[in-house]
Amino acid sequence: MKRATRIMLERPAAPARVRGKTFVVTGAGSGLGRASAEALLRAGGQVVGIVRDETQVRPTRSTLSSAGGGRADVLAADLASRSQVEALAEDAVRRYPEIHGLIHCAGLRLPDRTMGPDGTELMFAVEVLAPFLLTLRLLEPLRQGEPGRVVLVAGEEHRRGLLGPPRLDPANLEAERTFSPIAHARHLTLARILLAQELARRLHGSGVPVFAVAPGPTWTGRFRHYPWHRRLLEQAQLFVRRAQPVEVGAQRVVQAAVDPELAGSSGGYLVEGREVVPSPPARDLEAARLIWKKAEEILGERFLPTEATPP
Ligand SMILES: NC(=O)c1ccc[n+]([C@@H]2O[C@H](COP(=O)([O-])OP(=O)(O)OC[C@H]3O[C@@H](n4cnc5c(N)ncnc54)[C@H](OP(=O)(O)O)[C@@H]3O)[C@@H](O)[C@H]2O)c1
Repeated sequence: MKRATRIMLERPAAPARVRGKTFVVTGAGSGLGRASAEALLRAGGQVVGIVRDETQVRPTRSTLSSAGGGRADVLAADLASRSQVEALAEDAVRRYPEIHGLIHCAGLRLPDRTMGPDGTELMFAVEVLAPFLLTLRLLEPLRQGEPGRVVLVAGEEHRRGLLGPPRLDPANLEAERTFSPIAHARHLTLARILLAQELARRLHGSGVPVFAVAPGPTWTGRFRHYPWHRRLLEQAQLFVRRAQPVEVGAQRVVQAAVDPELAGSSGGYLVEGREVVPSPPARDLEAARLIWKKAEEILGERFLPTEATPP
């Protein structure tokens, strides 16, 4: 956030920061998560890929292992379920005393408002609540990982809106009042950028840096839950916006996790390899606190109540 850094996209993923290091990647079964995991493995990292259920463990392990390089472990957890996130975190803390990067790639686009297993709106549960809880539960191994960086994959959608960049609506975070697939996805993108900043503020002093990254329009199957006509429309837009291959998007995600030029900073927002200032609503301190409060209310627990000095 503080400085505009041009990240050299063509630079190979900083081998010294990857080789032999442990990276937890959610959404590792497909799209940006899988391609990021593969890039880290090729650079010699150890990847702990998180997939939604047990049926995906073996095929994902076999796909990731064929990338070569480092070791791939795959664990299953439905990130919309608090008990499964807690069990995953407990397991990960036991197995991996040092985590050098935690990359939140899991996400989903749904055509209708859908409730998750705990009664929380599903997209909010996966894209905001899960990264919140998983990051805080993995804090100790992240602290030990030199410390490890946290990366939330977001997007530039938060800048778009009929009347300019929309502000956070704390009363509609779960689309309680109105739901439109596009508006909700935009709203949650904004929420993820704000969450990254609030995590960065509260983790200041722990040494654990947090970044949000917009990889740019990327060809993945993320609209697969949409009906065919809406999917076609989204794909046409990706075509018009010259969407990039998934490997390029993943390279940008991985750079946020390992680029040495980002050392010493936290709370930044990276767009297509460049650190930029997000829209004014995505810099709203009060809105970021409200997300934290909402997550605490849903989980019935307080986390890092004492704010450290902002970075
Ligand atoms: N592609 C783009 O152009 C783009 C641009 C900017 C930002 N992003 C963001 O990047 C992230 C990854 O998107 P993508 O394009 O790679 O989409 P994707 O291929 O659909 O990947 C999303 C992954 O999240 C997993 N997931 C969904 N719900 C889950 C749950 N309850 N528990 C565990 N895992 C779950 C999915 O697993 P299942 O297959 O089992 O459902 C899938 O592997 C998303 O947050 C997206 O908003 C994407």
